[in-house]
Amino acid sequence: MKFTRAKGLCGEVTVPGDKSISHRSVMFGSIAKGTTEIHNYLQGADCLSTISCFQKMGVDIENRGDTVVVKGKGLRGLACPDADLDCGNSGTTMRLMSGILAAQNFKATLTGDASIQRRPMNRIIEPLSLMGAHIQSARNNGCAPLRIRGRALKGIHYTSKVASAQVKSAILLAGLYGDGQTRVTEPYVSRDHSEIMLKHFGAQVYREGTTAVILPARELYGSRVDVPGDISSAAYFLCAGLMVPHSRVLLKHVGINPTRAGILQVIKAMGGQITLLNESCDSGEPVADILVCSSSLHGTVIQGALIPTLIDELPIIAAMACFAKGSTVIRDAAELKVKESDRIEVMVKNLSAMGACVEATEDGMVIHGQSPLHGAVIDSCQDHRIAMTFAVAGLCADGETDILGADCVTISYPGFYRDLERLTVR
Ligand code: S3P
Repeated sequence: MKFTRAKGLCGEVTVPGDKSISHRSVMFGSIAKGTTEIHNYLQGADCLSTISCFQKMGVDIENRGDTVVVKGKGLRGLACPDADLDCGNSGTTMRLMSGILAAQNFKATLTGDASIQRRPMNRIIEPLSLMGAHIQSARNNGCAPLRIRGRALKGIHYTSKVASAQVKSAILLAGLYGDGQTRVTEPYVSRDHSEIMLKHFGAQVYREGTTAVILPARELYGSRVDVPGDISSAAYFLCAGLMVPHSRVLLKHVGINPTRAGILQVIKAMGGQITLLNESCDSGEPVADILVCSSSLHGTVIQGALIPTLIDELPIIAAMACFAKGSTVIRDAAELKVKESDRIEVMVKNLSAMGACVEATEDGMVIHGQSPLHGAVIDSCQDHRIAMTFAVAGLCADGETDILGADCVTISYPGFYRDLERLTVR
């Protein structure tokens, strides 16, 4: 798919529902008692994988498009699947479902596409095994396919080396079935959608500093969930609005949970003009409309506790930093190497191909701003966030930018190119 320079980006856009919250609503709804009605469920391939895995375990899930209705089976009502559970490209599906399967009364195998079969699973195998689960990497390489046999679980206090909501959530979900309290301590607080939604469904869960605590539950109770717009999808329009001259974009109803909204802090630190309007709350999650206008940006340092709050936005932030005055330093972000692609390597390679001045470091990158970008052939490596990042970069570059594997945006934002084109002034 090809992109050329835009004269501006103007108008309003409502991005699809949050991916993390959508996954959790179907998972928690499936193991709750009663009906969960989910509004604005993300119809991206990852979230459809979650629906199909729970349907294979006997859950009645009706996907009506925007609304999904889940007839929950209760904490111990899932059925043994008669085939492998295919998580597709979705790390959230695989890791969170492992926490649930660790306590079920049957054996299951979790698999997925080539990318997920390369991603590290020891980070969940280790804590779930400490809780008493029987969980193995089928090829003994620390990756999927995973074979899980449910067992009676113990509550543990686990200290994770990485700030990862997928790891934390897998342990908290297993903790619902524990024989006592389960605690997960992280180096920094990761996104807390599981804690918010589990509480909404009746679990006893709370935070002490960087430790999340959960008590065993007798049942969860299904509830209505309104999924806010995904800030990780909104990020492409936020950054495009700042980068493309003569732009003014209004993003409607975006989730701004502080454990996810680090990009807003970075935009402010870089001198970006951004305003929050109509702040409200959806099922315990803060939301707002966000207005953004083209701005002259300057470099910044992004590190430490901020990193988990914007981990998925770092590719588009790195692209935006190419248009800022001075240098932008991203550190403490080694997790980028184990996402859908190695996002440090892939970003540096593709930005360099467009003429950017950027260096990879051990745990991030350094971008020296204001070398003009030119079009290039970009390999998305089937990573949805890379494809969307370079579609935006292509709007600010001379010549033509050709994205290979552009269709992978269906993972998180099936209508992305249509929405981008609609806002683009030629
Ligand atoms: C997610 C957590 C993050 C994020 C991913 C979604 C979640 O991963 O990158 O896209 O829904 O919990 P990690 O937990 O591995 O950091």
